[in-house]
Amino acid sequence: MADIRNIVILTGAGVSAESGIDTFRGGGGQNGMGLWEKHRVEDVATPEAFARDPDLVLRFYDMRRAAIASKRPNPAHEALARLDAEWPKKQGRGLLLVTQNIDDLHERAGSARVLHMHGTTDAWCTACDARGAWLAPMMERPACPECGASALRPDVVWFGEMPYEMERIYAALSEADLFVSIGTSGAVYPAAGFVRDARELGARTLELNLARSEGSAWFDETRLGPASELVPAWVDEMLR
Ligand code: OAD
Ligand code: ZN
Repeated sequence: MADIRNIVILTGAGVSAESGIDTFRGGGGQNGMGLWEKHRVEDVATPEAFARDPDLVLRFYDMRRAAIASKRPNPAHEALARLDAEWPKKQGRGLLLVTQNIDDLHERAGSARVLHMHGTTDAWCTACDARGAWLAPMMERPACPECGASALRPDVVWFGEMPYEMERIYAALSEADLFVSIGTSGAVYPAAGFVRDARELGARTLELNLARSEGSAWFDETRLGPASELVPAWVDEMLR
């Protein structure tokens, strides 16, 4: 691995599937159909859905936050935390972990540098712009601790909204020698386009996934299997 210095890792719902958090599409999750109470994710996770039926959208995220709080990191998160700690120890090496997941399992496993491009489990007050950790339900329209308005929404990126941290992500992609995609279906842009961006910018590309993703053909190499097995094995290779 002497030729690899900078690594960018993108994770999706598949990395948390074995922790018991449902994926949105494809195998692995418990409902495994991209449906939540017969609603397509794309119909719940939009500003339009929130305007039309806020109770439905708040309930969806209340349930996801509660589920996340009760789950624990799995060996894939743990291996990535090991890489996060060990890889940059040698001079000139860099690592960035970008996740599409709102769960905090990478942080709880010990990863120090994680960008949540699709947001977190935090609350965001649309009246005063305050953001902060939030465990209680939002269905009951709690008051914002900062300004008192009942204007909290999940601090997540909905379809049609701009993902977070894009400048830092593209800066890292432009420096990357290796781009690794883990447990994501490649259905949602711009994340689904990172493999092509990384390739064009000169990186090797590796996919670790249970099943081939929509963008599978773009990767130099694809390894199929559960993240809890593939990720620790790959991290061992990198740190050997
Ligand atoms: P998806 O649910 O679309 O895809 C999950 C991927 O994980 C699939 O490719 C599965 O094959 C794979 N998978 C399932 N179990 C696995 C396991 N044990 N080990 C390895 N891989 C496994 O999830 P994402 O690609 O993350 O965005 O979805 C992208 C975005 O769509 C989400 O961030 C969310 C969603 O709508 C927003 O809400 C904006
Ligand atoms: Zn407020």
